[in-house]
Amino acid sequence: MSFDLIKKILFKFDAEKVHDFTLNQFASNPFYLKKLFPSFKDHQYVRSSNLAWRNKVGLAAGFDKNAIALEFLDHLGFGAIEIGTVTPRAQLGNAKPRVFRHPKELSLRNYLGFPCKGADFVESNLKLYKPKACLGINIGKNKDTPLAHAHADYSNLVKKFEKYADYLVVNVSSPNTKDLRKLQDVSFMSEILDEVNKVRVLNKPIFVKISPDEELSDLESFLKLLIDKNIQGIIATNTTIREDWGRGGVSGEALKEKARLVQERLLELTYYVDNFDIICAGGISTKNDISDLEKKGASFFQVYTSFIYQGPQVLNNLDRKNS
Ligand SMILES: Cc1cc2nc3c(=O)[nH]c(=O)nc-3n(C[C@H](O)[C@H](O)[C@H](O)COP(=O)(O)O)c2cc1C
Repeated sequence: MSFDLIKKILFKFDAEKVHDFTLNQFASNPFYLKKLFPSFKDHQYVRSSNLAWRNKVGLAAGFDKNAIALEFLDHLGFGAIEIGTVTPRAQLGNAKPRVFRHPKELSLRNYLGFPCKGADFVESNLKLYKPKACLGINIGKNKDTPLAHAHADYSNLVKKFEKYADYLVVNVSSPNTKDLRKLQDVSFMSEILDEVNKVRVLNKPIFVKISPDEELSDLESFLKLLIDKNIQGIIATNTTIREDWGRGGVSGEALKEKARLVQERLLELTYYVDNFDIICAGGISTKNDISDLEKKGASFFQVYTSFIYQGPQVLNNLDRKNS
């Protein structure tokens, strides 16, 4: 059965139910599904002083929040897989419905609010997994943790997950947890990163994931802060707010333009900075999107929405050697 036909059927149902159903199939039937969806094998390794990916296209956070389907996602051939956002304690997230498709715009909108089975559950899955792709672990605070105590959530999660991760991501940019984006302010950010630095023992690379909705003029000082705090990179970007579309964060084509401005500015600012990487996420759906960003110095890319719209073929579409 072709992916187009599968998509036609799945897109008739609620987006979150389809996501949960598909992910559970990935988790429970990897053997059967591996036959249906062959691996992307055309790997061209990309490396920096912080990251070693088997190809330049990684799976962005949010797809496999609890690390239940890593074996199958690894089989598909992503250059890296980022799990999470993981919160310390289990929580349900926001009220449903909370994932919406905007097919004409090749976009999604989600108002999930970090539903997560909690750090212990995720750790139990990681203990069973032997990763081949680079593994990123994206962490966030619980909804009921006050901003003033957020640093403890992040540092506890770094302490727990550093040994499993190839890189960790401090997520302070989801629009769906009240006031989370305030953690991007200098005082909160400094406090979080200071606490995180106190518990790092293996010196795994740490990235901060940022929103596309901040002032471009603030990026330079934000970057300086991260470099001063021994952070290894930025994931740019998370989803954007489009109030005319309804609640939640928008991803895919409708995010592209905003994300590009942030990515290009960061690539420009970091061009001569050693040991600091920009992972580009946001509306990456064609080979041209990647080559345009490569011209500006980008090496690492992540996809979420184009994986939903193009299926596993997205890796061929984006990263085939000869086309
Ligand atoms: C349904 C959904 C859930 C997401 N959940 C998370 C999350 O838990 N943590 C996170 O950092 N980003 C999350 N994201 C954001 C993606 O990781 C990515 O940054 C964003 O969607 C932009 O990439 P895209 O345009 O390729 O989708 C989510 C995105 C979607 C569509």
